[in-house]
Amino acid sequence: MRVFITGGTGLIGSAVVAELIGHGHSVLALARSDASARAAAKAGAEPLRGGLADLDVLRKGAGQADGVIHLAFGNDFSSPEAVVNSIAEETAGLTTMGDALIGSDRPFVTVSGTPWVSGRASVETDPLPTDGPVGGRGRTVNAILALAEKGVRTSAVRLPRTVHNNGDGGFAGLLTTVARRTGVSGYPGDGTQRWPAVHALDAAVLFRLALESAPAGTAWHAVGDEGDAVRDIATVIGRRLGLPVEEVPQENFGPFGPIFAMDQPASSAHTREALGWQPTHCSLLEDLENIQP
Ligand SMILES: NC(=O)c1ccc[n+]([C@@H]2O[C@H](COP(=O)([O-])OP(=O)(O)OC[C@H]3O[C@@H](n4cnc5c(N)ncnc54)[C@H](OP(=O)(O)O)[C@@H]3O)[C@@H](O)[C@H]2O)c1
Repeated sequence: MRVFITGGTGLIGSAVVAELIGHGHSVLALARSDASARAAAKAGAEPLRGGLADLDVLRKGAGQADGVIHLAFGNDFSSPEAVVNSIAEETAGLTTMGDALIGSDRPFVTVSGTPWVSGRASVETDPLPTDGPVGGRGRTVNAILALAEKGVRTSAVRLPRTVHNNGDGGFAGLLTTVARRTGVSGYPGDGTQRWPAVHALDAAVLFRLALESAPAGTAWHAVGDEGDAVRDIATVIGRRLGLPVEEVPQENFGPFGPIFAMDQPASSAHTREALGWQPTHCSLLEDLENIQP
């Protein structure tokens, strides 16, 4: 397949591009800068210059492809307004690509997140949260999945809070960044809350499997570790950085504080069984051993 991808130069997207090319697909990659275009070309993809806000470019990319994978998201979490703007930009971009695919029966795989359910690991049939700071992303994913009714083979790959590679990425990566800045490897609450995780190279395989074979309107869980206690994550980070490990107020983590404080394990049993997905790369706690002081 010729696959159009957004976010193909990111931590996860670069793994997806390699996975696609390694399995005989060709890749057209949205690239918003010269540096991103060079990175995409080096990875073996054809760059398509433009950003998520360039709706004509997205329309053209989706229109030229046999399938689309969406991963791009603005990385500015500095304020609630910045997050709102990134969500609005993503919604417009996803809607444009979805419209371009209506009636084509082509696959459209979008990134999503694992939901949280009180007292148990969330499963693929649990609904996405549609309120809170990132609820807008959930509402948009639901709208894209509904295009299954209009001749688009839509699917969502729900990622856990931490998608890691070489000791970095996701919420655990944010904990590391805050620890380096504050001199304390902190965790909110009592640290027993569990966060799920997956290695980026394993997540990439699931994006390919969803592109190739997921039925229309379905959601999948790219979960390698069902849930690591946040205190255990902070303990490895503290040891690697030579910093004390302590409970800290959730406000230390800005808009993410309330999400960081939640117990949110997630299961991928159905995904493994139905799509034959099997994670093979190291766990989060093993990968964090790659953190350099
Ligand atoms: N990492 C995690 O643990 C995790 C967990 C759950 C969900 N996710 C989601 O997974 C997706 C990918 O995450 P990631 O960790 O791979 O992110 P990342 O490393 O920050 O990469 C982001 C990608 O999106 C591109 N991008 C950002 N804003 C763009 C814009 N306005 N126009 C065009 N391209 C834009 C970036 O392009 P440049 O190369 O030009 O910067 C890059 O390719 C995101 O939707 C993220 O929210 C990630």
